[in-house]
Amino acid sequence: MNRYEGKVVLITGATGGLGSAIARTLAEEGASIAINYINVGDLETMAKELEKEMTVKFGGKHKAYAADVTKEEEVSSMIENIVKDFGRLDVLVNNAGISINYTSWKYPAEEWQKVIAINLNGAFYCTKHALIPMREQQYGRIISISSVVGITGARGTVAYGATKAALIGMTKTIAREVAQKGITANCLAPGYINAGIMNNVPDKFRDEDVIPSIPMGHLGDTDDIAKAIAFLGSDDAKFITGQVLCVDGGFAM
Ligand SMILES: NC(=O)c1ccc[n+]([C@@H]2O[C@H](COP(=O)([O-])OP(=O)(O)OC[C@H]3O[C@@H](n4cnc5c(N)ncnc54)[C@H](O)[C@@H]3O)[C@@H](O)[C@H]2O)c1
Repeated sequence: MNRYEGKVVLITGATGGLGSAIARTLAEEGASIAINYINVGDLETMAKELEKEMTVKFGGKHKAYAADVTKEEEVSSMIENIVKDFGRLDVLVNNAGISINYTSWKYPAEEWQKVIAINLNGAFYCTKHALIPMREQQYGRIISISSVVGITGARGTVAYGATKAALIGMTKTIAREVAQKGITANCLAPGYINAGIMNNVPDKFRDEDVIPSIPMGHLGDTDDIAKAIAFLGSDDAKFITGQVLCVDGGFAM
């Protein structure tokens, strides 16, 4: 399938476990990928490597953009640069996210602020600025990565769960505001996936608590998420807006 020929896709936190899988899947379907990364540690090198790898493997033009999604000015200039470089922006995947875990009554206020800043403010700034070219084009797809934790709750994840539930409310409002402009807004809520932030979960907790709680009895893989994003961002999903698609092996049903 080549559903993304001529489409420009921005993925935030695109060097991460799920982000890089989404980037490769959409590039394989013909998309030009704007690879967002925050310029810390070795992420610039990883972003440039992903850019090169996708160009060699799938052809097309892909480009890495440094921006901290918690800083509105950085987000706004990243999106202006993407439109300058590619001429348009068709799909935004709000993927950047972190989880910091403490029980609610011990949760440090500064960690709460950090999680809200990245998971919620970051997705809002990216959406707000992506809507500028999308409204002009009268075409766009906004997909925010929520989580089953935003639906069911999970002990120790008060800030994370709050942001992931808030993304659902944000998405429904945006979906209504732009429904007649050719733009859809949806959330994808992954369950427990064998990549990214799940790598921080201790093996014993994963094997004895998490996996037995999944009706299908195993973790999802990055392909399960990337393929669902590819559907939601494509014209196959053109009449779907304001929805939450759980990709979770039955966890949140
Ligand atoms: N892995 C899972 O099981 C799972 C389940 C449900 C939801 N999710 C969600 O999927 C998304 C991707 O998570 P992942 O598992 O791939 O984790 P990950 O840690 O591999 O990826 C997260 C990415 O976000 C980036 N990021 C963090 N702060 C940023 C900032 N200020 N600006 C720009 N980028 C920033 C990180 O550098 C990283 O590349 C997250 O929103 C996460 O909450 C993951």
